[in-house]
Amino acid sequence: MSNVKQDRHVEEDWWPHPIPANVEFGEGFYCESAQIFRKMVSKKPDAVVIGKHVSCYAGCSFAIGENGRCTIGDFTLLNGALIMAEEKIEIGSYCLVSWGVGIADSDFHPLEPAQRLIDAQALAPYFKDRPPRPKLKTAPVKIGDNVWIGMNAVILKGVTIGDNSIVAAGAVVTKSIPANTIVAGNPAAVVKTFQ
Ligand SMILES: CC(C)(COP(=O)(O)OP(=O)(O)OC[C@H]1O[C@@H](n2cnc3c(N)ncnc32)[C@H](O)[C@@H]1OP(=O)(O)O)[C@@H](O)C(=O)NCCC(=O)NCCS
Repeated sequence: MSNVKQDRHVEEDWWPHPIPANVEFGEGFYCESAQIFRKMVSKKPDAVVIGKHVSCYAGCSFAIGENGRCTIGDFTLLNGALIMAEEKIEIGSYCLVSWGVGIADSDFHPLEPAQRLIDAQALAPYFKDRPPRPKLKTAPVKIGDNVWIGMNAVILKGVTIGDNSIVAAGAVVTKSIPANTIVAGNPAAVVKTFQ
């Protein structure tokens, strides 16, 4: 059972569209609104793969680029997270991901100033000489099982978070975190470990 109907519309949803065809989900999927998938442009057939008894509250957003993918394990709760995947973001089972959390596998714009000017023009929809976007760099993100990410934390490109770890509210995680660890601050640093 789940609150998503056979035609992939969410029960009593104000958003008129169904859950996109390239989103797979297991039994017990709770989704407050299919609007969370409005930013999905991935062409991959298995762009988002969601396990059993996963909950995604209405504040979530899956901004999944053309070649992006995201997987979510069983019993994970996303309570208003923004998932920005140009390549791959994996979130394990039994994770708790709080309000305002951002998880990204790219910076989405070039670092180099001249390239960034081109990117700004490329992103102006009514500019007649619109150039192609410079190629984006990506580095996959992997979040283990039973990870708790506090409100407004940010997880950046290339980061791996080990099982059972906790990211404090507001932390900015720029480097990988081992299992059984609490990190806090900006940039995030280890503040505690579990035995
Ligand atoms: C600022 C940014 C673009 C720099 O990218 P980068 O040059 O590849 O940075 P690196 O990952 O090599 O990190 C360089 C150093 O800066 C630190 N750092 C990077 N981003 C940081 C951030 N957001 N906050 C604090 N420290 C940061 C890293 O810890 C590292 O520190 P060290 O030299 O002590 O090891 C990137 O980290 C960032 O913040 N990206 C998010 C961009 C964004 O918001 N995009 C959304 C769509 S517009």
